[in-house]
Amino acid sequence: MPKAYLMVVEDDPLQRRLIKENLEAEEYAVFEAVSGIAALNVIKEYPIDIAIVDYKLENESGIDVIQLLLDQNPLLTPIMVTAYSNVENAVEAMKKGAYDYIVKPLDFEKFLLVLNRALERQKLRREVTQLQDTLEERFSSQNFVFSSPKMEEVARLISKASKSDATVLISGETGTGKDLVAKSIHFSSRRKNGPFIALNIPSLPETLIESELFGAEKGAYTGAHERKIGKFEAASGGTLFLDEIGDLTLPLQVKLLRFLQEKEFYRLGSSRPQKSDVRILAATNQDLEKMMDSGDFRQDLFYRLNVIRLHVPVLRERKDDIPGLVDHFIRIYGEREGKQIAGITVEAMNLLLRYSFPGNIRELENIIERAVVFSEGASVTSEDLPVFLKEEREEALPLEGLPLKERVERIERLEIKKALKENGGVKSRTARALGVTERILSYKMKLYGLEKK
Ligand SMILES: Nc1ncnc2c1ncn2[C@@H]1O[C@H](COP(=O)(O)OP(=O)(O)OP(=O)(O)O)[C@@H](O)[C@H]1O
Ligand SMILES: [Mg+2]
Repeated sequence: MPKAYLMVVEDDPLQRRLIKENLEAEEYAVFEAVSGIAALNVIKEYPIDIAIVDYKLENESGIDVIQLLLDQNPLLTPIMVTAYSNVENAVEAMKKGAYDYIVKPLDFEKFLLVLNRALERQKLRREVTQLQDTLEERFSSQNFVFSSPKMEEVARLISKASKSDATVLISGETGTGKDLVAKSIHFSSRRKNGPFIALNIPSLPETLIESELFGAEKGAYTGAHERKIGKFEAASGGTLFLDEIGDLTLPLQVKLLRFLQEKEFYRLGSSRPQKSDVRILAATNQDLEKMMDSGDFRQDLFYRLNVIRLHVPVLRERKDDIPGLVDHFIRIYGEREGKQIAGITVEAMNLLLRYSFPGNIRELENIIERAVVFSEGASVTSEDLPVFLKEEREEALPLEGLPLKERVERIERLEIKKALKENGGVKSRTARALGVTERILSYKMKLYGLEKK
């Protein structure tokens, strides 16, 4: 294996041979070309890393040849060879895409240094492009599965939102795909090569949020030993995704509003305004309209965020999406587990279609992941699905004909169970979601046998 593939574009046969022999001695594979056209043919046929181009070819300028080559393969790294008297031309060549230049007569030791640097850069660029390809693939429409009319509408909005730079408020219950929507917008927008930074507000202690968002000067607070770069700055040129925006305290709501209005913010401990070119996406599973009524969310901020509103519907209102999602997750987890699973039995699919999915797509994904792990056959069967899917059928029995007390109790039990699931079993959050005290919740959980065993 040669160390790298090089091409020498040079019309003077003596000079060409000299370069070739010296580079071959260093275990490079070296191809020759005498003109732009010949060089193009070489790069179409061989994976050339570096093109060493003479400044003056017989009938054409080396700069034109470099442009020709870069048009064909932008990943190629060109190096210009020029006479001492023409160093200004080398500068021009670098403006037009040459990575570096070397002067004649050639000093091979220096030449090899330049070459090594160019190869380093070439390697990095290849890695970056590969990374970008996988990122783009991960967020391409392939991984955003839907077939329901409701989600078609969402997809249309995503595509509209990604053509604009406006702030988007993504709302929807837990697990409906808000994160995925935010990433899809970023990775199909003109900012896709910039950073995508997500900040989950409730996961941060209140005292840290401000410096996380806006940054802080050294010594701005105890423990600030160094200047801290905030997310607004870090996301410059890209997108900042503020997840669970409803959890932002009122003072921070004011600061965010100021940023949205003025495109300016202050680091903690600094009175100098900073600018950042960042696009804001926000998500919430809370009812911000209700929070505005109760004074917990500022109206002016709401309208600034809500420029484009993107509501992701719950899974039970778009059951047409279930079969496609099931196939998608079977493929992903089948691959991970190294299992050949072709699909799912009709009976198992019917169980899924009847289920209400309080945890939405995240819950469906977990169910399928677990089923794939358990599955021993060519398809996922109802045996592989959790028992509560079968129980749920009983709970979904019609309420008609039951005495009022029993009806109410059954609904209450279901609602509590659902809220518990939505809030990850955390009692304080569940109680808040249901608008009851924790004590009442505990009492009801005992009453309905919903205590954790
Ligand atoms: N349309 C979809 N196609 C494929 N996978 C999806 C789709 N929607 C959601 N998912 C997957 O479901 C899981 C949950 O989605 P996501 O994290 O985006 O939900 P969320 O609304 O942000 O939830 P939370 O409110 O809890 O933050 C993720 O693994 C995501 O990849
Ligand atoms: Mg999320």
